[in-house]
Parts: sequence; C-alpha cells; structure tokens
Amino acid sequence: MKNLETDRLILRRVRLEDVNDLYEYSSDDRVQIPAGSKKVYNIFEMMKRIEKLIKRDDILVIELKSNRKVIGAIGAYNLTYNDIIERHIGFELNYDYWNNGYITEACNVVIKYLFEELNMDRVAMSHYPFNKTSERVAQKLGFTKEGILRKEDKIATGEIVDRIIYSIIKDEYFERLQGGKSNE
Ligand SMILES: CC(C)(COP(=O)(O)OP(=O)(O)OC[C@H]1O[C@@H](n2cnc3c(N)ncnc32)[C@H](O)[C@@H]1OP(=O)(O)O)[C@@H](O)C(=O)NCCC(=O)NCCS
Repeated sequence: MKNLETDRLILRRVRLEDVNDLYEYSSDDRVQIPAGSKKVYNIFEMMKRIEKLIKRDDILVIELKSNRKVIGAIGAYNLTYNDIIERHIGFELNYDYWNNGYITEACNVVIKYLFEELNMDRVAMSHYPFNKTSERVAQKLGFTKEGILRKEDKIATGEIVDRIIYSIIKDEYFERLQGGKSNE
C-alpha cells in the first residue's frame, strides 16, 4: 500500500524508530487478545517483529498528526483467489486512544484506496463475537455481515472462539459513492 493521509492521521510504512510506540500497545493484552495477535514481551522482540514488518507492503502504521506518535496499525491482507481480487483488513489501536473515531477514519481512507486505486472486487473484515467495538466499526464503515465461522480460532486465553465475517463488494462501494453516501 502507498502512504495515505486523513485530517488527523498519517498512514505510513513502519520504521525502526517506531519501536517504543509499537511496543506500548503490542505488549497490551487489552489490544492483542481481541486483535487475535501474539503479544510482544520485550523491546528486543518488538524490534525483531519490526524488521519483518518493514519488508511488508500490506501494513501501515497510524501516526497521529497532533503529536507525531504512532498509535496503531492497519493491514490489508491479500486474499486473491479464483481471479477475485480481495483484501482482508485488520487493525489495532493503542488503548489510550480508543473511541475517538481514529480507526474508522483510517479504514475509510484505506477502503477508498483499495477500491479506487487497487481495483478490489471485495474488501473483507472479521472480528470475534465478544469484540463489540469492532462490530460497531464494521457497521460505521458500511460492511455487510456475511456469517459466522464457528469455533474458528484459538485465542491467547486458550478459548476457542467464533469469527464473524463481513464484506463490502465493489458494486455497492461505487453505488454508495454515486449516491453521495460517503462514510467519511
Ligand atoms: C477495534 C479498535 C481498533 C477500534 O478503534 P477506535 O479508534 O476506538 O474505533 P472508533 O473510535 O472509530 O469506533 C469505535 C466505536 O465503537 C463503539 N464502542 C466502544 N466500545 C463499545 C462496546 N463495548 N459496545 C458497543 N460499541 C462500543 C464506540 O462508541 C464507537 O462508536 P461511535 O463512534 O458510534 O460512538 C480498538 O478498539 C482496538 O484496537 N481494539 C483491540 C484490537 C482489535 O479488536 N482489533 C480489531 C480486530 S477485528
């Protein structure tokens, strides 16, 4: 993905100097458990993870313009198969910054980029049933619920949980644009 910008945020490739900001939320169970990610236990481990992330072009960090702090990340993972071009978006945000509309703002610009510049057929997302914040984010972004993958994932607590899946398809994205129903 290319770097993107919104009113309050810069979405850009990961850098080594982001290590402390990324560690702040990557070591936090409140963020990592609902995200279904592996928690990071120390700064050295974080650095190793960043060295891998730097090479990837499907993840951008979210930098807050007001204080230049990296407060989260958003990924758009490639799911292309059978000629249908699709990305699955995932996101996580430092707990101190929740409920300010940041992820909705970041996702809106990423979804626009995926449909309008990368010509996606579908954009998907998913969350665990207990993740009511992501459920609300999916709703605000205009995703349609498709169904539930039952007992699909084992999370860090050891629990085996369902996954609720959503999509936006190309036609509905452009129909909404024409109808002036932007989610921004
Ligand atoms: C999911 C996450 C990225 C959302 O980021 P955010 O910037 O706080 O999201 P937004 O502020 O754009 O929207 C959050 C919405 O959820 C609502 N919300 C928060 N807690 C809620 C709850 N318990 N029940 C219902 N809605 C809730 C907020 O009120 C807000 O809706 P509103 O704008 O209508 O008031 C963040 O909570 C996070 O990092 N969670 C842990 C990791 C994670 O779950 N990743 C996603 C995996 S699918």
